[in-house]
This record gives sequence, structure tokens and C-alpha cells, in this order.
Amino acid sequence: MIILVDDEKKALMLEQVYIAEMGKYVGENVTLKGWVYNRRSSGNIRFLMLRDGTGIAQGVISKADVSEQTFELADRIPQESSAVVKGKIREDKRAPGGYEILVSELEPIQIAENYPITKKEHGTGFLMSHRHLWLRSKKQLAIMRIRNVIISACRKFFDSLGFLLVDAPILTPSAVEGTTTLFETDYFGETAYLSQSGQLYMEAAAMAFGKVYCFGPTFRAEKSKTRRHITEFWQIEPEIAFAELDDIMELAEKFVAYITEQVLVNRAEELKILERDTGPLENVIPPFPRISYDEAVDILNKEGSSFKWGDDFGSPEETLLSEKFNKPLLVHHYPAKCKPFYMKRDPQNPQLALAIDMLAPEGYGEIIGGSQREDDLETIKKRIEEHNLPQDAYEWYLDLRKYGSVPHSGFGLGLERTITWICKLPHIREAIPFPRLLEKCYP
Ligand code: 4AD
Ligand code: MG
Repeated sequence: MIILVDDEKKALMLEQVYIAEMGKYVGENVTLKGWVYNRRSSGNIRFLMLRDGTGIAQGVISKADVSEQTFELADRIPQESSAVVKGKIREDKRAPGGYEILVSELEPIQIAENYPITKKEHGTGFLMSHRHLWLRSKKQLAIMRIRNVIISACRKFFDSLGFLLVDAPILTPSAVEGTTTLFETDYFGETAYLSQSGQLYMEAAAMAFGKVYCFGPTFRAEKSKTRRHITEFWQIEPEIAFAELDDIMELAEKFVAYITEQVLVNRAEELKILERDTGPLENVIPPFPRISYDEAVDILNKEGSSFKWGDDFGSPEETLLSEKFNKPLLVHHYPAKCKPFYMKRDPQNPQLALAIDMLAPEGYGEIIGGSQREDDLETIKKRIEEHNLPQDAYEWYLDLRKYGSVPHSGFGLGLERTITWICKLPHIREAIPFPRLLEKCYP
């Protein structure tokens, strides 16, 4: 039987100790491996800050303890050079992490000359084109560690509720979220598109397995430059047979509360690095406020917006609405004409769709979009026609309404939107390791 061990050194059978684990080796001689983060000197002592992805260690190099060559190297080894450091670990409250290493050996692996990202302020354009290096900085690492916890939380949440993870394809024959943002590609002489959402496939999976979710990259050729749009983003999309609009509102609420709690519990240090005020996050506890689209329009108009009933909210409206509430806000019953073909209409008022959006607080706007799905064959056929979609690409989808159709509902949470809000980032581009943006597909 394979047993997962707590100790990373033992687990990987490595010779090195990871910086985050230094506390377990006080008084021992160990090997650290990493990159030079910073260095400074004071008399006959050189301080070398080494980072290895798990933390930053302070190396103390005393002239009396090392060879002349090593001491001289410690004086000039450039930032981001890779190196092996050997020495004894001791406790020191002043050192970052509470421990430091008294260096006896310093062995460079590669000397990095003129690392382009320095202490001075760099413009975002410069940092974005050096994204492959920018990821090494403290804040970016903190964001990626939070991203990781959010991903785990998404999986844990749905797994613990008995959902089956079903992977949706990325190459698809048809649109889900309108035809204007499709990325087209040649598929052996036929046209295929990069998936905008796994939803249609989750509807098939829900009819097979009951409660399902997918988690993967989705693509939209968004032609507008905003702080909220990237062209490649990750979505987590649950779909549930026999669920109606109220059921998914409740699920969405619990889901977002769980994610937020997991970040607060497991990534306090990283939130501190990002200088994130945790008060608003601690407040993310169900029930969340729920308002109808009509009520939302009233609020907007009272705030002086000239927004007209029937349009979909854009970023300015979402920002305004989400600033009015100190918890995520659920908006339901949107006008059907501004929503996709698959949404079920409200039987009480067919002008409205049984749709929900969740808007994150603090002005962050939409993080979730979802709905109850149209489950009647003739109606969905009509919608496909009204939306000028090619019926043949949806034949398989129509089968779901022919063979045991049931009411069903689901939603999609945008991973990067959620990270942007939880980390309180100024722009979505920092929420994903290598963002794809309108103007750039590099690095
Ligand atoms: O509201 P959307 O378009 O809904 C769907 O795709 C549904 N088919 C999901 C479903 O019901 N299974 O997108 C869902 C979420 C949005 O709320 C937003 O968080 C995110 O995906 N999103 C984007 N994130 C970053 N960049 C973009 N261009 C995004 N477009 C949507
Ligand atoms: Mg939406």
C-alpha cells in the first residue's frame, strides 16, 4: 500500500530539505536548493535570501565559517542565480519563517546575469511580457497558491456531495454561449470550435449519472479589453437532474461560501502578502441576498443609471449592484432575450428566463452564470431556430429531450473571476499563470 507522508523530503526521497519544512530540522545539517532572492551584507557577515517555491530562507554566511571563495561568491552572486546551500538550521525569530541556515557551503548551479525584474517599479506591460519570470515574485506566488486551494475546494465540495466529475471536450461542433465569441479551428476539413462551456455535455452526463460537474478550460474570443475578460479561462460547471432554479441558487451559495472559507483557513499567510482585508471574506456566509432582474433595474435607475429593462448587465451595472451589498448577490429571472437559447422560460412570464447570476461584492461583478434548462423538445427546437443556430450540430442535444427528459439545472463558476475577487486583484490577468488576452498570446 502506498502511504502519503507528511514530510516532503521523505515523500520525494530527495536529499534536499524544502524551506517550508526547515523547522523540522533544527540543529541538523541540511541541503537547501533554490534561487537567490536577495542578499545584503553587514561587516563580516553576508545574508543570502534563498527561495525554493515553498518559502524564503535566510542564509547566514560568516567569514570565519566558509572558504574565501565562498565568501566572495556570497558578495556578488546575482539575483535569481540557482544554487545549492548546505549548513546547519537554527531558530531565529527575526528570520523570515522563524529559522535560518548557517551556511557552510554555497554551490552555484547557474549564475543569472541581469535578471530583468528588479526592485524598482515595472509597468504592467513589461511584467506581462515577462510573465514567465514574474511568477517568481512573492505576490504572484501567493496568488497561485490561493488558486490552488480554490481548485482543491471546488473538487472537494462537489466530490463530497456525491457529484461525478465528467470531463467535457474542448473541441466542439457547436456554440453554447452565442456565436460571436467562438474560436474557430479546422478539424480535418470541417469546422470545430474551442469550447465556450462544458454545459451541453454536462446535460448529457446528468441524464446518465444524475449529479455531475466538469472542470476545465473554456474559450471566448472576447474582443473587448476589460479587467474581467480573458480569452481562456477555467470554469467549474455542475449540472443536476431534477433540480430547479431555487435548488441551484442554494447550491451556488453554499459552494461560494465553502471556497471562501477554505481560502481563509488555509491561505491566511498569502492573503496577508496580498494585503487583502479579510473582513469582507469572513462575511461570505449564506444566505446571500437575492433580487430579481426587475429589482436590480430599479436599484440601478435609483442610482442614476440610464440602464433600460431588457438589456444584459455590463461591467458598470454589475459593479454598481455588487457594491450595494456586502455579500455575494444572486440576481434571478433575467429577460429571456438577453440570455442563451437553452434557458427555460418562466411559466408565469415567458418574457423571463429562469436564469441566475451571482455577483461578487466589492464591485467585482459576475462570478457565476446559470439557469434551469429548457427540457421540452419542441420548445428547444424553436429556440435553436430563433437563435439561428444550425440544428444538425445539436441533433445529439435534442436526443436528451427525446429520451427521458427531466427538469434540470446547472451553473458555471469562473475560476479566475473568483480568484480576482478573493485576492482583490486589480485585473483578472494575474489570476491565471499565463493569461491569454485580446492583444497578446505571449509568453
Ligand atoms: O455566464 P456564462 O457565460 O455561463 C456559461 O457559460 C454557462 N454555460 C455555464 C453553465 O451554466 N454551465 O459564464 C460562466 C462564468 C461567468 O459567470 C464568469 O465567471 C466566467 O464564466 N466567464 C469569464 N471569465 C473570464 N473571462 C471571460 N471572458 C469570461 N466569460 C465568462
Ligand atoms: Mg454570464
